[in-house]
Amino acid sequence: MDNKKKAFIHTFGCQMNEYDSMRYAEVLQRHGYDMVDEPKKADMILLNSCSIREKAEQKLLSALGRYVVYHKNKPEMKIVLAGCTAQLRGVEIMKRFAEIDMVMGTDNSWRLEEWLQNPLSGARYLNRTSVEEYSFCSAAPGGGGVGVSANVTIMKGCDNRCAYCVVPAARGPRIDRPRGSIIQEVDKMVSAGAREIVLLGQNVNAYRRGPEGFAGLLKSVAERPGVSRVRFTTSHPRDLDIQTVKAVGETPEICPHFHLPVQSGSTRVLRRMGRGYTREDYLTRVGWIRENVPGAAVSTDIIVGFPGETEDDFNETMSLLEKVRYTFIYSFCYSDRPDTRAEKMTDGVEPEAASSRLAMLQRRQEEISTENLRSWVDKVGEVLVEGPSRQGNGQMMGRLPTFEIVNFGSEGSEELTGEVVRVEITAAGHHTLEGRHL
Ligand code: 5AD
Ligand code: SF4
Repeated sequence: MDNKKKAFIHTFGCQMNEYDSMRYAEVLQRHGYDMVDEPKKADMILLNSCSIREKAEQKLLSALGRYVVYHKNKPEMKIVLAGCTAQLRGVEIMKRFAEIDMVMGTDNSWRLEEWLQNPLSGARYLNRTSVEEYSFCSAAPGGGGVGVSANVTIMKGCDNRCAYCVVPAARGPRIDRPRGSIIQEVDKMVSAGAREIVLLGQNVNAYRRGPEGFAGLLKSVAERPGVSRVRFTTSHPRDLDIQTVKAVGETPEICPHFHLPVQSGSTRVLRRMGRGYTREDYLTRVGWIRENVPGAAVSTDIIVGFPGETEDDFNETMSLLEKVRYTFIYSFCYSDRPDTRAEKMTDGVEPEAASSRLAMLQRRQEEISTENLRSWVDKVGEVLVEGPSRQGNGQMMGRLPTFEIVNFGSEGSEELTGEVVRVEITAAGHHTLEGRHL
């Protein structure tokens, strides 16, 4: 019988959390745990939580409810709560769920190691760290967890104060990771098998360390041996500079894709959100992209039903879809978050109105996204092969530089994982493309 301890990590939310969860898995493996997919079988469950919208917190609480039942049958099971909701509501949640052994806030991920050596019940690690003291948890990939595409964090936290957003409270002020430490991690990821590096941060364009800021960092990462592709997310439209746009246009390894969250197409709403740009400023930046990076994909995040949003404001958002022609959007109904400026605004939009706006927005975007996919048919694209397709029909899956997913068949294709291949696009589905390896 296998006596090794087993750990299960449940990750909610964004790529930041996915990145942190990989680091947690590495620490747990170093401490003798095997990672498992079934929480029931685990000796340790780590929940890496998200607070971005109310729904994310509800999902956390219902998962906790399920895990507490497993804990009843297995009282020696450890439960750890990490991430954004741990930071914001950890103490309160620990009171409600006495089964939680430890709460670890967003500046304290390095504490996991210490706690595993001395797993006291009721431990809480929630203090904020100053810029001087903050240390980024370095990746130690090698346990097979690294795929063809690997995330590398370049900053933590966020210095903006968007009226709707809980991230600055959940993740604290922005701290840029030293450039040497980023490059070192890129090299480690490549040694572990990665070919694409995704630079992650809440506002990557604000990165200031080293020569030429973010544009300089992008170019240095693109030059590392073994890196076929570089991506980055998320850009803030206010901080996106022309140097970065030009770097993307001039460097073949940097993918021509900008995820540029607009949030609203109405300058009036943008002002109330505190975004620091107008609709026209945003369109100017999209113009830089169109001019310097022909064929680039632009995608975005949109919030509908922000307090005070009128039908006219919403129509401005609708018309932005026509102007920019995003390849895809992530769109949400506004959700009140505690202690944000928007929470205190008294002119909230009726939930029914917000939902119907969201449906209308998504319907139109679906058409635009499909038109974009169809425009690829009969063209040839370069695909970085990520592995077997999820459809499980022997096909391989990869992405175009502009981020569209391509499923394709070919002889001996398993061996193509990690390579950039030429694929003729033969058909467009709802969200993916079909192709033929040339
Ligand atoms: N309500 C709805 N959506 C939100 N987002 C951030 N905060 C909220 C909120 N309170 C969205 C934004 C952001 C994305 C990650 O989540 O669009 O870009
Ligand atoms: Fe990520 Fe924001 Fe959710 Fe935190 S609150 S997990 S930073 S999306």
